[in-house]
Amino acid sequence: MKILMVCLGNICRSPLAEGILKSKIKNLGLKVTVDSAGTSNYHAGDSADPRTIDVARKHGISLASHTGRQFTLADFDEYDKIYTMDASNHQDVMRLARNEEDRQKVEMILNISHPGKNMSVPDPYFGGSNGFEHVYRMLDEACGTIAENLITNS
Ligand code: 4NP
Repeated sequence: MKILMVCLGNICRSPLAEGILKSKIKNLGLKVTVDSAGTSNYHAGDSADPRTIDVARKHGISLASHTGRQFTLADFDEYDKIYTMDASNHQDVMRLARNEEDRQKVEMILNISHPGKNMSVPDPYFGGSNGFEHVYRMLDEACGTIAENLITNS
């Protein structure tokens, strides 16, 4: 199973979602690959945002080795599941999808913890640092459910 997390910049939300899910998977001993990407190229080659690194570290997760990259069409072939962080990223990825098989892979991550609500993970980039803790909690809840579902289906 290969999972890709997608946001806009790939320096705040999706690297955090990647780190959280990787940590849960490691604790459970599951064999799952997790990566992340941004719909934009604004931060390709950059480290995670320092505020993202801080909030992850507070929860025992290291994002030190993260490097931002842009989502590509090849990601539809490489990954089984693509979780988008907000409505805008979702639209962008769906617009790139080449066929129904691609589209079936894409889901808004908060629909895992809040089915059918199409809720967005708020973009914390322009806000203060407590936005990052809020984002952490939302992603921790969703990734907890993703990990539970992976156990059920493994
Ligand atoms: P992310 O946050 O999509 O969660 O990584 C953002 C990072 C950078 C920008 C926007 C959102 N930006 O406009 O540079």
